[in-house]
Amino acid sequence: MDRRPGPSVRLRLTLSYAGFLMLAGALLLAAVWVFLLRYVPERAFIVPGSTGAPITAVFPVRSSLLHVFAPRAAAVLAFLLAFGLVGGWILAGRMLAPLSRVTDATRLAATGSLSHRIRLPGRRDEFRELADAFDTMLARLEAHVGEQRRFAADASHELRTPLAISKAVLDVARADPDRDVGEVLDRLHAVNTRAIDLTEALLLLSRAEQRSFQREDVDLSLVAEEAAETLLPLAEKRGVALETCGEITPVRGSHALLQQLTVNLVHNAIVHNLPEQGLVWVSTDVRADGGAVLTVENTGERVPPELAATLTEPFRRGTERVHSDHAGVGLGLAIVRTIAQAHDGTLTVTPRPVGGLRVTVELPAADPQRADT
Ligand SMILES: Nc1ncnc2c1ncn2[C@@H]1O[C@H](COP(=O)(O)OP(=O)(O)OP(=O)(O)O)[C@@H](O)[C@H]1O
Ligand SMILES: [Mg+2]
Repeated sequence: MDRRPGPSVRLRLTLSYAGFLMLAGALLLAAVWVFLLRYVPERAFIVPGSTGAPITAVFPVRSSLLHVFAPRAAAVLAFLLAFGLVGGWILAGRMLAPLSRVTDATRLAATGSLSHRIRLPGRRDEFRELADAFDTMLARLEAHVGEQRRFAADASHELRTPLAISKAVLDVARADPDRDVGEVLDRLHAVNTRAIDLTEALLLLSRAEQRSFQREDVDLSLVAEEAAETLLPLAEKRGVALETCGEITPVRGSHALLQQLTVNLVHNAIVHNLPEQGLVWVSTDVRADGGAVLTVENTGERVPPELAATLTEPFRRGTERVHSDHAGVGLGLAIVRTIAQAHDGTLTVTPRPVGGLRVTVELPAADPQRADT
């Protein structure tokens, strides 16, 4: 914003200090003056010694007092003014010094340098709190921007992969005209499907991130049941047994997004399971505070805890080959996390000691106001 220059805060504080000092000084002098007036008569009778002579002289005492008092009072006030201005200027400068560091850091951040921190030394006060809050904000911004950059790089890389595979397939087909066209078409179709899946996942992610969806009353247990039903054929094909349980679990949010969240979790539980005789448990529950909990648990290979902590990051895959056509996109859990966060909820991924994962989504109470009334 373009503002007209005004008097600095340091100058204003200095003038306030000096002004108050002058006022206090003037009040004190006025009090002294009133005190003097009360005890000094307007005219004094001077009676000489014990000679018993008649009255010899009468002096105008008050006026002479004023003559003596006024210049000294003025000198005191002038001293107070000078003292107030100099002292105020130094004090205000010292008080405001941390603010200039905050301003410098803000200007630096505005140019795009987010790695800088103020780190104001000293004990906690208003300025330190401001500086610390600013440092925290910078750290979060830096992490966020870094995450976005990584995401953009990963997404570009992922989007390039199917295109590069298509090009390779086409090059090979062109070099060998006798090649089976059907096989080439199948390959291209598979690669194309993967590219569409990836783009759709990216679109879904950005839609959930924008939080621009209608909120409605949703029964999470019903959504979980539907997801299990939809994925039952896949589970059967892979020899995985699905088990669902849960009472009515009301939440408020987007039905479509919550459905996507559940489908992603159940899909993961089925495809990242044991090669045979795998098990999946899907359950929903209402917490004591009215919040909803969706838990999807599955058997499978052991997942190291440090790997489990990173699985929700975009394009993070476990052990499968990353660039085969059949590998997942690697956005399933990132989408789940984003949808959960868009509903003010949380996602927790915990490895089971015997292998497989336990994934929990916690969502806030459907309508806390209504529950209270
Ligand atoms: N229920 C699970 N059990 C074991 N491992 C899992 C489970 N869910 C996810 N993982 C691991 O986490 C990785 C990331 O999962 P995510 O759903 O984000 O991607 P994906 O399943 O590979 O691909 P897609 O985007 O197609 O879902 C998976 O590759 C897998 O290794
Ligand atoms: Mg997945």
